[in-house]
Amino acid sequence: MWTRKGRLLGLPLTWCPSTLRGKGGDGLFKGRSNKSGLKVNEALLETAAKGQEVRVQGWVRSVRAQKEITFLNINDGSSLQNLQIVARSDLNIRGITFGSAVEIWGKLVQSPHKKQRTELLADKIRLVGACNPVNLPFKIKERHSLEYIRQFPHLRCKTNVFSSLLRIRSEASTAIHSFFKNNGFVHIHAPIITSNDCEGAGELFQIEPASRTAEKHENTHFFDVPSFLTVSGQLHLEVMTGAFTQVYTFGPTFRAENSQTRRHLAEFYMVEAELAFTESLKDIMEVMENLFKITTSHILSNCSDDVELFHKYIAPGQKERMEQMLKNSFQVLSYTEAIDILQRSTEIFKFEPKWGCDLQTEHENYLVQHCGNIPVFVVNYPYDIKPFYARDNQDHPQHTVAAVDLLVPGIGELCGGSLREERLDLLQSRLKELGLKDTYHWYEELRQFGSVPHGGFGLGFERYLQCILGVENIKDVIPFPRFSHSCLL
Ligand code: 4AD
Ligand code: MG
Repeated sequence: MWTRKGRLLGLPLTWCPSTLRGKGGDGLFKGRSNKSGLKVNEALLETAAKGQEVRVQGWVRSVRAQKEITFLNINDGSSLQNLQIVARSDLNIRGITFGSAVEIWGKLVQSPHKKQRTELLADKIRLVGACNPVNLPFKIKERHSLEYIRQFPHLRCKTNVFSSLLRIRSEASTAIHSFFKNNGFVHIHAPIITSNDCEGAGELFQIEPASRTAEKHENTHFFDVPSFLTVSGQLHLEVMTGAFTQVYTFGPTFRAENSQTRRHLAEFYMVEAELAFTESLKDIMEVMENLFKITTSHILSNCSDDVELFHKYIAPGQKERMEQMLKNSFQVLSYTEAIDILQRSTEIFKFEPKWGCDLQTEHENYLVQHCGNIPVFVVNYPYDIKPFYARDNQDHPQHTVAAVDLLVPGIGELCGGSLREERLDLLQSRLKELGLKDTYHWYEELRQFGSVPHGGFGLGFERYLQCILGVENIKDVIPFPRFSHSCLL
């Protein structure tokens, strides 16, 4: 189909599924119907209903039999709304139940009922895959809780709420890529397998072939060196700031954290950006705030029905909270001010807030509330609690680095970032202090060939979805959650 010069023969360059499916007969879609195939979201558009012959494929969400007519509601994942199918009594609908997969041919017309704009008058209905609704763990018309459907990772995409989540997740990914593209960033595929521990926290999953037995290969490794699933693509992005002024990556990251909290996963997606020629945390914070606001506005306008379902049934009040976050400027506090606020509060914390200790989730939540429930940047953290790469502020008596966390309502930490130590002498002494000199020889070398001040951040994609939708548990915003003691499917 492709010529040597990379042109696609005979097909338009933008692939248009419904046009192609409508043609049928030849090439890719040989043997398919010659009636135009439509997605449910296309069929629901008033302008689509002109009495033309179409074909729709999907899964039955409800069956309502009347004397002369049976009404079926069909969904194919393209929208939260179902398409109503009107089936005359002479059509064979035997075996079609809630959950069946079906293919329907008929005429798309404007609906006489107020509930929907269009409906499909069926000429033929084919049962593609039967379903026994008695054994299906989800019941027709019942609203199941997120906790309940979480027990069925192989089936939960069939529920309204989870299919909405998956559409929002897909749209959010697109919006994030568009944000970076529109702002001049180059997308880098950071590796998933790496030989370094960027965060230095030791939360690594080591990789070796499954066939390797401990005795036989005691001191050997598949890659000759110990290798791990990445905890962050930051160091690889830093490499790229040697030749690109703005780069980003968006991929899975892994942490062997033994925690089962509502905001931690062992496998999660992280959006990371790195900016060259920047000497101020303000530049990094500006990208974080714009990324949050522009991506969220895109989702609110492109997935309004799906978002509404969450804001109405899962997290009432979240819509207003979201609007507050979008219309106000994010606040900025220094770590020292944050500790001061926490120490002056009358709240009883489980962990006593102390200068030099990391902020706990309870502290983060308190600070967000204190600032009026809008996102807060906390800047300039103690030198001793941040990784080797964070830029030394060389301040006294409280020694800090130019690091920033973005805290958001309901979640706590959403983003972590910093300026990176570009001064070779300071970097070398820090690496020596931490016993990392041999490991990071290459990293030191980055500072010797046209090095520039730079910095960046990482945003936890699942925490972001929790934040905008108001979802309590992180396991409910990822298709297949992985956490300690659980790797289903
Ligand atoms: O704060 P973190 O550890 O920062 C980094 O990894 C930097 N190297 C990023 C950078 O500067 N390029 O992680 C970034 C974000 C956190 O703020 C949090 O939202 C999310 O990743 N995150 C997790 N999300 C789910 N489960 C976990 N176990 C997470 N750990 C971090
Ligand atoms: Mg962090």
